[in-house]
Amino acid sequence: MKKLHFRNGDPIDTIGLGTWKSDPEDVKNAVIRALEVGYRHIDAAAIYGNEAAIGEALKQVFSAGEIKREDVFITSKLWNNAHKASDVLPALQKTLSDLQLDYIDLYLMHWPVAFRPDVVFATKPDEYLSLDEIPLIETWTAMEGLKSHGLAKHIGVSNFSVTKLKALISKVKSVPEMNQVELHPLLAQDQLLSYCSDNDILVTGYSPLGSTDRAPAMKAENEPNLFELEHIKAAAYKYGKTGAQILLAYHLFRECCVIPKSTHAGRIQQNFEAGNISLEHSDMMEIAQHDRGFRFVNGTFFDCPEKGYNNVYDE
Ligand code: A2P
Repeated sequence: MKKLHFRNGDPIDTIGLGTWKSDPEDVKNAVIRALEVGYRHIDAAAIYGNEAAIGEALKQVFSAGEIKREDVFITSKLWNNAHKASDVLPALQKTLSDLQLDYIDLYLMHWPVAFRPDVVFATKPDEYLSLDEIPLIETWTAMEGLKSHGLAKHIGVSNFSVTKLKALISKVKSVPEMNQVELHPLLAQDQLLSYCSDNDILVTGYSPLGSTDRAPAMKAENEPNLFELEHIKAAAYKYGKTGAQILLAYHLFRECCVIPKSTHAGRIQQNFEAGNISLEHSDMMEIAQHDRGFRFVNGTFFDCPEKGYNNVYDE
């Protein structure tokens, strides 16, 4: 499996198992299956509501002895309601307890958006906290503390635009090591990738397959289907692979990590095997031509002008 490297040289496998939208009942077997077929990178988050089930899987696999804790790279994310400096450590402790781990390999600030601590998902202005009330630098500084205490080996952000990265970097002691964002052939985000590369920030792509299993409320009408794109179907035919595998190989060509979600054994394996595909430059150029800046996760669910949240991606 192709690896990328953090600034200190630590490796991360490019293909990880995504767990957003995985039911707790299914995710345990999915993680066990993934580790069996060779995944060594699991992506989790507190808000996905399934970290305890992932923890059961990890415990079962690690106690069998063949795969050790240090062999697996595990990511989790700080939810929006724990941005206050004093809430950051307890949030990670809860995640570590659920995952049955002593440390996390990578901890990400999930969104550049803050909620009141007692609110899981803000829907009204008084449930948000503005970035004047809790500046991102306050949250980030607390995350730096997690790293200096060894509870998080690496720290980073998610859903940060170039504008937000620049603003944060101008104030921080240590620059984020990862930015996890939506990426796929209809949303190439070339400028963001080049900014991250210039600043030694690794990038992970989420929703690489279009996240068709999102809740209906998160879907727009007439969304494109990545598997049905003619140029993806043509590449799949040429390489003798599935469309999903081409969609994943796209990220490896671009030096990004990618975290396809599946809870089905066959697809978990199929997605892992995309790691063996090297797309030719001309095929990538063809795929790249069809970028249209289309987001499946459009971010409007965090619009709250009264609290200064508008256009979370600064587009
Ligand atoms: P399932 O979990 O039933 O396998 P994303 O990673 O972009 O969020 O997309 C996840 C969606 O894609 C899920 O509905 C998942 O279904 C489906 N999926 C995952 N792997 C494949 C694959 N190899 N072929 C087709 N669909 C897949």
